[in-house]
Amino acid sequence: MRIALGCDHGGLELKNIIIKHLEDKGIETKDFGTDTAESCDYPDYAIKVAEEVAAKKFDFGILVCGTGIGISIAANKVPGVRAALCSDTFSAHATRQHNDANILAFGARVIGPGLALDIVDTFLNAEFEGGRHQTRIDKITAIEKKYSK
Ligand code: RB5
Repeated sequence: MRIALGCDHGGLELKNIIIKHLEDKGIETKDFGTDTAESCDYPDYAIKVAEEVAAKKFDFGILVCGTGIGISIAANKVPGVRAALCSDTFSAHATRQHNDANILAFGARVIGPGLALDIVDTFLNAEFEGGRHQTRIDKITAIEKKYSK
């Protein structure tokens, strides 16, 4: 499994904790920045990870900013991305099972690292259920197509 990760300055510390957690489990990671605590703009890192995941170069993406809101909104502008902002484990497995989410987003100022790592493990271990959920995802894709040039 290959995971692409990105963050802004608000998410840097949590992203590094997540990378270590994944690498300790033998999961391959690639960090798309930011690498410093200097203030930066979350869309610049959201698009890097989102494009890689949409192109299927990675199995999943993980994005972290202060709230997780801005970075997930930005990632969801890339066609094919279904980024889910999760602060609990129920949402983490439900979004894989029902939404086939391919990016997990976190707010580092919202949840602590212990919960974040449980959410990561829950998300990566859950599987998309297909069926009626695929029909709904197809309708999301149709919305993307309607508004694409
Ligand atoms: C940065 O201060 C903050 O706005 C950002 O990390 C994020 O919370 C935006 O949604």
